[in-house]
Amino acid sequence: MTNSSLKNRKRVAKSLRDSRILLGVTGSVAAYKAIELIKGLKEQGASVRVVMTDASKNFVTPLSLQLASGEKVYGDLFGEPMSHISLPKDADIMVIAPATASIAAKAANGMADDLLSACLLSFRGRVVIAPAMNWRMYESPAFQRNLKRLIEDGAALVPPDKGLLACGEEGVGRMAAIGKIIEAIKSAVSPKDLLGEKILVTAGPTREYIDPVRFISNASTGKMGYAIARAAKRRGAEVTLISGPSAIEPPAGVGFIPVVTAIQMRDAVLGHLPGATVIVMAAAVGDFAPEAMGKRKLDKAAVSSIKLKKTPDILSELGAMKKRPLLIGFAAEFGEGRRGDGLKRARRKLIEKGADIIVFNDVSRKDSGFGADTNKVVMLLKGRGNDLPLMSKDEVAEAVLEEIHALRAKRKRF
Ligand SMILES: Cc1cc2nc3c(=O)[nH]c(=O)nc-3n(C[C@H](O)[C@H](O)[C@H](O)COP(=O)(O)O)c2cc1C
Repeated sequence: MTNSSLKNRKRVAKSLRDSRILLGVTGSVAAYKAIELIKGLKEQGASVRVVMTDASKNFVTPLSLQLASGEKVYGDLFGEPMSHISLPKDADIMVIAPATASIAAKAANGMADDLLSACLLSFRGRVVIAPAMNWRMYESPAFQRNLKRLIEDGAALVPPDKGLLACGEEGVGRMAAIGKIIEAIKSAVSPKDLLGEKILVTAGPTREYIDPVRFISNASTGKMGYAIARAAKRRGAEVTLISGPSAIEPPAGVGFIPVVTAIQMRDAVLGHLPGATVIVMAAAVGDFAPEAMGKRKLDKAAVSSIKLKKTPDILSELGAMKKRPLLIGFAAEFGEGRRGDGLKRARRKLIEKGADIIVFNDVSRKDSGFGADTNKVVMLLKGRGNDLPLMSKDEVAEAVLEEIHALRAKRKRF
């Protein structure tokens, strides 16, 4: 099968791309961080309209937010009559970041005495709220009461971090990192079509130790597997991430099992198999391990060669099981070009390893594979293929989950 015969049929699931966000900025010292948040959201294809409170203008200028969003900034309830109805109507999601104690009190009690609080009251979609304030204010019974009520009303909270606050005190109250806020927004706009699924994801490299300080490994960073775990969680699945050594922070709300060697990864996968409906093997499990591991650091002069043995082939082991979850493997191969038989090898893997999907990952390109933020993949399924354009790993994760969703729906029907 050639690339040209593969059909690009699947759309990417709804993500931030094309989402219309109404961002409320309130009077906290963290208000300037709204600029970075707007830029991050726009980078991912969202459009952002900003409503500022009067107090917020002491901390960041409307012009800065206008330049970041590329849109007019709103703030006056009577400036453009009915904007408190029309702005929320045109938005998919409302985000308050930073959110003061004052806006939380207004929103929890249905007050509508300025443009932002009136917008919150008339909005009918999901609200994401990222508080920022001094720890005394944050921990006060009144604020906690208001926050609890907002959550009961359906708001998604992005909890503040602990750390040094603007007042010089240490405590909980720093607005959450922009990455966390963006993740919460993505989760809020995501369809919950994987609700009820239990998904196991493996990620990262494995290490096979030669002696206590030296090991054989590969260049996998875990980006692809972590992106799948995050996206599956967003779409409502219960996710367990089994990861080799990686510098990436485990996604919030995901069960996290750190492992080091291929054997540990295999044991962790088998241990978490009961109840799992889907397994995505995105880890770059090492193929070889030293036959024996030195107990002490080996003397360089005494070693001329190292004997290797094969590590367990987890994908094949799972594929051979009679009753098994839906099985997705990744094949890191050299794509077209000089050694352009990677796609053929990946297709063979699909058959030989008994997987339901093999994601052929072209690691011969600089913009794809280990460490890159983008991936060029072809999704191989029995009887068909889906050749995807170069995409961010987050988008590849969404595309893989689209296929998983379709296959799971089919399995449930028959
Ligand atoms: C220097 C300074 C910093 C402030 N930082 C915060 C803050 O981080 N969080 C907060 O809830 N209130 C903070 N406040 C108090 C709010 O600005 C004040 O409650 C204001 O009325 C909030 O109005 P708004 O919610 O309409 O923006 C701060 C006030 C000052 C003077």
